[in-house]
Amino acid sequence: AAGPIVVQGAMPVEAERFAQRLENPREEQVGGWRFWHGTVDGYPVVVSETLKGMSNAAAATAIAATRFHPVAIINQGTAGGHDPALKVYDIVLGKYSVNLGAFKTPAKAQGEGSDSRQWRPMDLLASKGSAGEDKNAHSIRQFPADGPLLAIAESVKGRYKQGRVVEGVIGSADVWNSELDRIRYFRDSYHTSVEEMETASAAQIAAAFNIPFVGIRVLSNNITNQGKYDPQTGLACQDYVYQVVKAYVARA
Ligand code: 5AD
Repeated sequence: AAGPIVVQGAMPVEAERFAQRLENPREEQVGGWRFWHGTVDGYPVVVSETLKGMSNAAAATAIAATRFHPVAIINQGTAGGHDPALKVYDIVLGKYSVNLGAFKTPAKAQGEGSDSRQWRPMDLLASKGSAGEDKNAHSIRQFPADGPLLAIAESVKGRYKQGRVVEGVIGSADVWNSELDRIRYFRDSYHTSVEEMETASAAQIAAAFNIPFVGIRVLSNNITNQGKYDPQTGLACQDYVYQVVKAYVARA
């Protein structure tokens, strides 16, 4: 039998609504993580509460990969806007994701201070050596969405009435950036549409297991255009992803 589709959400408000929509749900606890097994239109789906942040997302993804052998992983939830053209409730389909927390700083002596704009990206997958001195070590690693999965995510765009749905770049780190100059820097050099704390991590681990992956994120806040934080956006994102899963199942 084909493996399940795994739908990931970090917080209860980002996972429980989808779990409640499963047919014949059964909850399983593995370590600190909750998984709900069930079906959507008869097809197996596992909802995974990854918990917040890069380490939790990586671990939850590895657990899902090895225990459930999924055919696809969708990481979804809330995010903060980097693009002033995007409003709270707009949805970004991640054509790729990037790690916004991996850097090598220049050498500076005592008293020379620290300037994060001088930090160079560090591609943690570029080499097996330690210092990151080989020639690709400072490029920005992109974790691409699976093409067919992204196309399915696009195909249900017309059904979303609470905002726009666009393709974009998702940036992830264990950092909540509230400095507008820093956000502008990321937008200019990493081309980020939004930031959050899980997608690039889950994408990296999914790629290591050759599992098709896509990140889908709703803006819950956008300080670049005074977009106020609204946690209810997390429900809207699950409703969108539910439509994506139905479209996937209809084609499976
Ligand atoms: N910056 C970082 N993380 C954010 N999240 C929502 N908005 C932001 C933001 N502006 C998400 C993260 C994490 C939790 C804090 O909310 O993915 O799970």
